[in-house]
Amino acid sequence: MRTMAVVLGVAVGALALPAAAQMPLPDDSSAPMDGATLFLNQCGTCHTVEHGAAPRQGPNLAGVVGRKAGSLPGFTYSAGFAKAGWTWDAARLDTWLSNPQAMIPGAVMLYKQADPATRKTIIDWLKDQH
Ligand code: HEC
Repeated sequence: MRTMAVVLGVAVGALALPAAAQMPLPDDSSAPMDGATLFLNQCGTCHTVEHGAAPRQGPNLAGVVGRKAGSLPGFTYSAGFAKAGWTWDAARLDTWLSNPQAMIPGAVMLYKQADPATRKTIIDWLKDQH
């Protein structure tokens, strides 16, 4: 029995090592995504940060950091925004992107981001989009 276990262990080890050594290194997935790319991929279908551009499904987000929630002229927000008395800052945006409906009941933004690092990268980038 004892010999058997040792033999098995050696066999598994011998198989596992070369396999690990041959694993290709990931090249593109190892580079962290930048805010611009994340915004384009994750928000860009519904939002733009281009000045003067018409809103898409969601409001234009140019200058959203420091803007009062639900205040973009010409965009029709869902009813819950009327009670949102805050101005968007990094902390509010982080709460929003984690779960919009928990922050504003009935919000119609169909997006949620569970990863804090991804949220932070997008929010840091948004701060520079005046
Ligand atoms: C599927 C479309 C969709 C996606 C994807 C989406 N949003 Fe939205 N977003 C909306 C809609 C629609 C609203 C307006 C919600 C309402 O009226 O209830 C909104 C509202 C917002 C607001 C409030 C703006 C204001 O003027 O008060 C912020 C901030 C926001 N989105 C940020 C983001 C960010 C950042 C991303 C990507 C990480 C994102 N959204 C992804 C559709 C989307």
